[in-house]
Amino acid sequence: MSCARRVPTGGRRGDSPPYRTPFLRRLRVLWAWFTCITLSCFMADPYRNANEPGFNPAYRGTPPWDIGRPQAEFVRLEETGEIQGSVLDVGCGAGEHVLYLAQRRHEAWGVDSAPLAIEKAKQKSAQRGIQATFVAADAFDLRALGRTFDTVIDSGLFHVFAPELRPRFVASLGDALSHGATYLMLGYSDEDPGSGPPGFSPHDIRRVFGEGWRINYVRDARFEIVDVPGHKTKAWLSSISRQ
Ligand SMILES: C[S@@+](CC[C@H](N)C(=O)[O-])C[C@H]1O[C@@H](n2cnc3c(N)ncnc32)[C@H](O)[C@@H]1O
Repeated sequence: MSCARRVPTGGRRGDSPPYRTPFLRRLRVLWAWFTCITLSCFMADPYRNANEPGFNPAYRGTPPWDIGRPQAEFVRLEETGEIQGSVLDVGCGAGEHVLYLAQRRHEAWGVDSAPLAIEKAKQKSAQRGIQATFVAADAFDLRALGRTFDTVIDSGLFHVFAPELRPRFVASLGDALSHGATYLMLGYSDEDPGSGPPGFSPHDIRRVFGEGWRINYVRDARFEIVDVPGHKTKAWLSSISRQ
């Protein structure tokens, strides 16, 4: 008679006891996948930090989107009169668009959830002697600003939100725009295989801006970045009005 121990079905000799059933082995595989995906997210995105969530850590250095001047697309929009009246830059980062628009005689506000970005923007505003308003605030709660604007611009914010968060962001935008006012948004295209956020398609825009909004156009555009080889640059420029 053999004295070898029987190994339960699905178990392996040498497994520690908790993994001897098929269910627990599957759980172990799922856990390993979860750990790998979580780690690779943080490793793949050098602008985030597991200990300090959000974009704040990115502003200790110069992130790729912080090109030290406004995006050419927004300069053109201002020069052609598409940016009108009071302006809110949602996710304003270190403030270049707000400061440019203030110089062009717009009442200009910028909000960002990263305190370091707002601090940098305020410093620039003081150094350059340009009057503008910067507030650390959440794009999902623009109602808290207690006012509306004639134009809201967005340079690279919409594209950081996962699809399931976009409807909530659009509802919040509605609280910041007067009726007939326009949201001008520049964000990465999902057609560009480069590194960076996954981006979105014109169809995604149509899906999330439904009743109560009019899509004026979604055009091919470029998102300028500091030199990062292989990074996305293809973008969409959208003009969407609140009805
Ligand atoms: C790709 S950066 C673009 C920054 C700036 N618009 C520019 O062009 O330089 C996205 C910005 O959105 C901000 N952001 C992300 N989630 C936000 C939220 N929920 N509320 C406000 N700002 C947010 C980040 O802190 C970051 O500054």
